[in-house]
Amino acid sequence: MLGSVRLSGREFEPIAAHARHSYLRYSFTKGTGQEVAFLVEALGLAAGARVLDVGCGPGRHVRGLAGAGLRAVGADLSHAFLAAAGTGPWARADARSLPFPPGCFDAAISICQGGFGLLGGDDDALVVGEMARVLRPGGRLALSAFSAYFAVRHLEEGDTFHADAGVNHERATVLDAGGAPAEFDLWTTCFTPRELRLIAARAGLEVRGLWSVAPGRYAARPPDLEHPEWLVLAEKPPV
Ligand SMILES: C[S@@+](CC[C@H](N)C(=O)[O-])C[C@H]1O[C@@H](n2cnc3c(N)ncnc32)[C@H](O)[C@@H]1O
Repeated sequence: MLGSVRLSGREFEPIAAHARHSYLRYSFTKGTGQEVAFLVEALGLAAGARVLDVGCGPGRHVRGLAGAGLRAVGADLSHAFLAAAGTGPWARADARSLPFPPGCFDAAISICQGGFGLLGGDDDALVVGEMARVLRPGGRLALSAFSAYFAVRHLEEGDTFHADAGVNHERATVLDAGGAPAEFDLWTTCFTPRELRLIAARAGLEVRGLWSVAPGRYAARPPDLEHPEWLVLAEKPPV
């Protein structure tokens, strides 16, 4: 609960239905190649490694990972985005209960609020727990998350930042493929590095890196106040 707002995890579906054919025109998707190259290197992935993309949307990172020789699978709750993604290695699934057995992936990613960061705070930790569960011992996780520092510092006209929950509410104008605008409520959980480290530890993961990033500008940059997102790299301890 956020004041009078209760999030079910399905709030993104109307946005996906409206934007499924225009999503990949948005500027924040244009750096996918850079993000994939950085993730492959940071996760230490060799050709043939099994990677799960949680909250994959229309599958831009899954395609990039497959292009790098990896066996990538996407999971997402959205019918609309999975339909737009077309045929491919997709599973319709809730990030809070992934339909995969324990230990079956070498790496798991969740980028750009792929479930993690859209669930109002309390359930976000469940997503990390599920990602940890499906990793093999020694497997790695990469997760991006909105920065609470940046969100508050650059709060935009009309945004409401719920200080207790750390959730930013905005009315987002989204264009469809024909350029028709529609307005949607968007609730995004924002984090501090310390919270992310605690969530990772609760999931039994060891944090190997926590960096300040922006879409298309992933780098091993120490946490600062200037970038909108964090990128967490963590490892499931080998048994
Ligand atoms: C902003 S999009 C990001 C998509 C993709 N990761 C990317 O980088 O383009 C957020 C995605 O998270 C998905 N999502 C939201 N809640 C989810 C949940 N509980 N389980 C799985 N996916 C979820 C949405 O359907 C949507 O595809």
